Amino acid sequence: MRIIENLAEMRETAKGIAVSRRSCGLVPTMGALHDGHLSLMRRSSGENDVSIISIFVNPTQFMPGEDFDSYPRTWEADVEAAEKNGVDIIFHPAPEDMYPSRSQTSVMVHGLTRSLCGMSRGQGHFRGVTTVVAKLFNLVQPTRAYFGQKDAQQAVVIQRMALDLNFPVEIIVCPIVRETDGLAMSSRNRNIPPEYRQRALVLRQALQLGRELVQGGETDPVVISNAMGEHILGDNEIELDYLEIVSPETLETVEKLDDLVLIAGAIKIGGVRLIDNILIGPNGPWED
Ligand code: PAJ
Repeated sequence: MRIIENLAEMRETAKGIAVSRRSCGLVPTMGALHDGHLSLMRRSSGENDVSIISIFVNPTQFMPGEDFDSYPRTWEADVEAAEKNGVDIIFHPAPEDMYPSRSQTSVMVHGLTRSLCGMSRGQGHFRGVTTVVAKLFNLVQPTRAYFGQKDAQQAVVIQRMALDLNFPVEIIVCPIVRETDGLAMSSRNRNIPPEYRQRALVLRQALQLGRELVQGGETDPVVISNAMGEHILGDNEIELDYLEIVSPETLETVEKLDDLVLIAGAIKIGGVRLIDNILIGPNGPWED
């Protein structure tokens, strides 16, 4: 396994892969790797001749006051985990190379970033995500790029960007990987104070409650939202950021539940922001 830090070297390597007609899978990450990331890496190495991950804690997607400084960084363990999961190259650029001081350009997906996390964190968050992912696509030139359904809005936004900007890459969205008790895996889980860990499950439980109501025949999103909201607000130390029932394509709220919907939520617990979601159709759940 190779570690590439230099942008020109990454470009040259990508060129070599293309010239030899090998396929290339890219898994963009911010490190602090867990089984969710590893599932993406295994899929990438299974489907491509060369599997590349990027590890880059992208400063432009953290809004002022967010957890950029305390975001977990576990470089040595990450290198070991990547090696064990079929990764051929880790691309690990320096922030000053990715964002030279005179850079003035960003990539912005407009409509899809207005709701959910775009509403609560600000659209600037997604501007940071799409800008860095566009740069990674240009540098690595992947045949396929792998993203997790855990960040459902991010996956939709990146698919839109790739289409709109004609990136010749196939975007593959992989299922959410969970801890045995159901908590969606996240690098930020490491920062949950132990006394809050058990209660972090409340978001997952609310989503499951939503699913049960749909399975029971409820079609009014307001009824479902209220029941889910009440479950979360039952714990007054948990801050409910949002809980929305939206179309998985437009990410706009739905009036009636007669098609596949995405229920997505975000909470803050013990100073840590957590997100989770579930896709539900009228004929039963799509996900676990
Ligand atoms: P990061 O949070 O490190 O996540 C990297 C990828 O792993 C994302 O596509 C994310 O959706 C996926 N992932 C995280 N937890 C997962 C889980 N429990 N199950 C399945 N997949 C999971 O998302 C980012 O980094 C950044 O925004 C990035 C795209 C790298 C741009 O900076």
